[in-house]
Amino acid sequence: MMKSQELISTAKAMVAGNKGLLAMDESFPTCNKRFAKLGIPQTVETRRAYREMIVTTPGLGESISGAILFDETIRQKTKDNIPMIKVIADAGIIPGIKVDTGAKELAGHPGEKISEGLDGLRDRLLEYYQMGARFAKWRAVIVIGNGIPSRSCILANAHTLARYAASCQEAGLVPIVEPEVLMDGNHTMAQCFKVTEEVLRIVFNQLYLQEVLLEGIILKPNMIVPGLTCPKQEFVDEVADATLKCLLRSVPAAVPGITFLSGGQSAELASDRLNAMNIIFRSKSPWELSFSYGRALQQPALEIWMGKEANVNQAQKALYHRAKCNYAARRGEYNAEMEQIKQTF
Ligand code: 13P
Repeated sequence: MMKSQELISTAKAMVAGNKGLLAMDESFPTCNKRFAKLGIPQTVETRRAYREMIVTTPGLGESISGAILFDETIRQKTKDNIPMIKVIADAGIIPGIKVDTGAKELAGHPGEKISEGLDGLRDRLLEYYQMGARFAKWRAVIVIGNGIPSRSCILANAHTLARYAASCQEAGLVPIVEPEVLMDGNHTMAQCFKVTEEVLRIVFNQLYLQEVLLEGIILKPNMIVPGLTCPKQEFVDEVADATLKCLLRSVPAAVPGITFLSGGQSAELASDRLNAMNIIFRSKSPWELSFSYGRALQQPALEIWMGKEANVNQAQKALYHRAKCNYAARRGEYNAEMEQIKQTF
């Protein structure tokens, strides 16, 4: 039987108090790629030390309501032998877990991806719930390119997301439903709008078919933005307008919260755009407009940390600062001056 009340209250708590989610669930290849770029060794121990730096940031719970972990991290401990998941929970942050096993090539569809991980999912979800996780994440990837995305790719991913979401709810975990339309490429903002609207409408149709309780999910979409190499880059307010227009057309009001991914935007732009959405639409939006950033929260801290214990304190300050900026953006109170005065603990 579905634990409806628990799911509803967890989902609400994930977007309560103007706080947002911290995505720190990079898989081995993604985490190693980010480390390699900065010359940080790619080992179990460096990944553990990095994640310890993040979760022990003083005051993180002031702006962060939930943290998404990777399987390796949820089983790791700090150097003082405290389970990472306990550190998170003690900081008042809800622990979550990434459960897809990665986006693989979709057979018969060159350039398109399907996220895997449904096999054995029920048992994995039960274990994560017992460990203390209260929500999960599954990321589907949609690529805009020549003749793609195909309807078959969108349908396959939407169906998979819905199956995952239903399984999570059965286990008492709130599913973060993440259909990410990638920013890579030179496509226009209008193309991103069109594809994202189609994807979201199909995702919600599939969620309905699988009888997913919408009050007990969180949607994690991309913003409506031009491709990274598109010559025309719209202003912040135009991105905010297009994003809300697209979401208002395609996301039911029963969903409690929308937590955007950052997707390769700069940390400042991700804060600025979220801020604009909350200034313009906060009073009209049926859902909380929040964040679930990975790179836009972590990247400045990672670049300071560089794998060195001596840099932990400064790196934590940078992470704390980005979390505070996005907390302000949820209230529409973020501004460029915040970037000058770096917060101290
Ligand atoms: P980014 O904010 O770096 O896109 O990461 C969010 C995320 O969790 C992607 O799955």
